[in-house]
Amino acid sequence: MSQLTFDAAAAKSMEAIYTTPDVVAQRARVIDLLAPVPGERVLDVGVGPGLLALDLARLVGESGRLVGLDLAPAMVATAAARLKDLPQAEIRAGDAIALELADGAFDAAVSTQVYEYVADMPRALSELHRVLRSGGRAVILDTDWRSLVWHSSDPGRMDRMLACWDDHLADPHLPARLGPLLRHAGFEVRRVEIVPMFSPRWQPVSYAAGMIRSIRSFVRNHGQRFGLTPEDQEAWWSEQEALIAADEFFFSVNRYAFLATRL
Ligand SMILES: C[S@@+](CC[C@H](N)C(=O)[O-])C[C@H]1O[C@@H](n2cnc3c(N)ncnc32)[C@H](O)[C@@H]1O
Repeated sequence: MSQLTFDAAAAKSMEAIYTTPDVVAQRARVIDLLAPVPGERVLDVGVGPGLLALDLARLVGESGRLVGLDLAPAMVATAAARLKDLPQAEIRAGDAIALELADGAFDAAVSTQVYEYVADMPRALSELHRVLRSGGRAVILDTDWRSLVWHSSDPGRMDRMLACWDDHLADPHLPARLGPLLRHAGFEVRRVEIVPMFSPRWQPVSYAAGMIRSIRSFVRNHGQRFGLTPEDQEAWWSEQEALIAADEFFFSVNRYAFLATRL
């Protein structure tokens, strides 16, 4: 598997994608599902650039606590800068599979678009279970890339581009097995919802627009293993440009949000 590098450049391009309307709506839905209240202690596993953590820290207020952790130093730095004025927030380095946090320390936890990068999910969920208090809530959101519908007149080439992209994740289909994984880890799954990233027409400021650029740049470095020559990649890009110009662009992929309670 060839991982994405979560460096400073990635933090910048992630921020651009994460401030598009699709992802802003996703954050609002995650917050609705988690329903944090002032005074609560909330954990954000894989805090990334800290956009969700900022909202959560404001919602729990100074009587609460927000801890955001991430494996990537550039993400820790970006999130720490974003939350630096909030005394209830603490951003630190950390790994989802070995949380350096006390048992039962949190009332609620979120992890969005993170566990799909984690190979040892039983261990990650056992850690999440350990740090939540009994009855504590967790909202976990990940993409199942099998739900992708992306128009192309060359589906074979599109399939190879997407197979290469899938390879950057530990499990590009995690949502389909997340329910049983949560139950085995000692959670009750209370609700599962689809959160679509949906561009039925071209929208220059959208998740889809960001993904075209991200996938192009990822495949440039890793496409060879999937038989994607530079010419194939250029043809894929040119086709998408032509579809956009002809107003024939279509992109839709689902994320799945799980609300679970620690038993
Ligand atoms: C796609 S980003 C999502 C960021 C953020 N949760 C959000 O939705 O805005 C994935 C993040 O997960 C982090 N990550 C990946 N594996 C991790 C692990 N084992 N422990 C902690 N963070 C991890 C990456 O460094 C990156 O910041």
